[in-house]
Amino acid sequence: MPTQRDFEVPSLGPCTVLSPIVLEPGSSYTSDSRRVRLDPEIDLDAPSRSDGTELTLELAGPRERIFFEPSRTTAAIVTCGGLSPGLNNVIRSAYFELAYNYGVPRVLGIRDGYMGLNPDVGAKPIELTKEAVVEIHNKGGTMLGSSRGPQDPKVVVDFLVDQQIDLLFCIGGDGTQRGAHVIAEEVSRRGLSKSIIGIPKTIDNDVPFVWMTFGFITALEVAEVVLRAAHTEAWGAPNGIGVVKLMGRDAGYIAAGAAAASQDANFVLVPEVAFEMEGDNGLLAALEQRIRRRGHAMIVVAEGAGQHLFQQGSDQRDASGNVRHVDIGPYLCDRIKKHFATREIQINLKYLDPSYAIRGVPANAWDRILSDQMARYAVHAGMAGKTDMLVGRESQRWVHVPITTSSSERKRLSPTDNLWQAVLSSTGQPHW
Ligand code: F6P
Repeated sequence: MPTQRDFEVPSLGPCTVLSPIVLEPGSSYTSDSRRVRLDPEIDLDAPSRSDGTELTLELAGPRERIFFEPSRTTAAIVTCGGLSPGLNNVIRSAYFELAYNYGVPRVLGIRDGYMGLNPDVGAKPIELTKEAVVEIHNKGGTMLGSSRGPQDPKVVVDFLVDQQIDLLFCIGGDGTQRGAHVIAEEVSRRGLSKSIIGIPKTIDNDVPFVWMTFGFITALEVAEVVLRAAHTEAWGAPNGIGVVKLMGRDAGYIAAGAAAASQDANFVLVPEVAFEMEGDNGLLAALEQRIRRRGHAMIVVAEGAGQHLFQQGSDQRDASGNVRHVDIGPYLCDRIKKHFATREIQINLKYLDPSYAIRGVPANAWDRILSDQMARYAVHAGMAGKTDMLVGRESQRWVHVPITTSSSERKRLSPTDNLWQAVLSSTGQPHW
């Protein structure tokens, strides 16, 4: 269980420079004493927690005094890991916040993920300009390129020193954030004043202390269109069965979210909830009942679901160290076909795997707003000398979260989550 100490955000030192950020009349700068309760709920029947044990997070936002003198500051932005709609929006907003609102004269774009922080393997950074970024928010992907895998933190910090980079913004998922932390550790070991700020990114929405990552809702929107097509196909054929596999290596938010949005799924299989194939309470029996009763059915399966069904799990890993799962989609289709064949029931099974199509698209309006705000709050944090932290969102507030604290937890769809409850309510699927 985390304690309050786990939420203390590392800082490079006292803030002595007056911020150039001008606020609207009536609004005020944020200070480190302003905190956000981790658990906003109160139980009037329970004893109050005014004993100081309540966990709070540091509120994000512009500080009146900052650590870095903007005119002498160089910032750099790196995008790592799998693509997520909104990456370009983050780059653009971070650039504009740094260059226009703070007056930072030099903002570098690091090429191809952490590779670009190692001059032996990566391409040279590019100097970002207004012209270079002004149109990128309408495109999916990342203008900087991305890759998986870490680099030697010693080499990276040598590079930061060589390039005179004071602030590094690391946009990426949990692997990227762990990489950012080891860079921050190396910076600290050398006694350098360099701020390393994480901006969480993944369509899987599985970063702890981040209510919603940008790109997630855009991915759901695309996935939901696929679900609609699968449902149309299943509905339009005798004993039609649609099986849709969606991304979600270790977390089922995409599958659950798309199913809840579509309201047409009958079975949703996620990594967090183990299910049986055979037996009275198994998927196949429930599917057969559904087909006999309604003549069509739709199954949504997250890529990480059902791994317990494989005797031999995958031992392959990607460059970020993530397990490459055995492909559940074709396996499921095969089992369903065999099940109905042995009962001599004709079915029409259509398998849809939109794969990268759900993330290789521009951000929708919601993700544009999220990515813009995340980028700007990250810049405020970095300019104030915060380091080894990422921008999070808790209790409807933007907050600072130490990377170590975020990385030490796993955000997973809980069977008690509203989203999972919504799935159960709309599908009526068995409690496995
Ligand atoms: O970013 C996470 C994710 O969306 C996972 O759900 C999926 O397994 C992974 O990306 C695949 O990305 P890539 O093939 O680029 O490694």
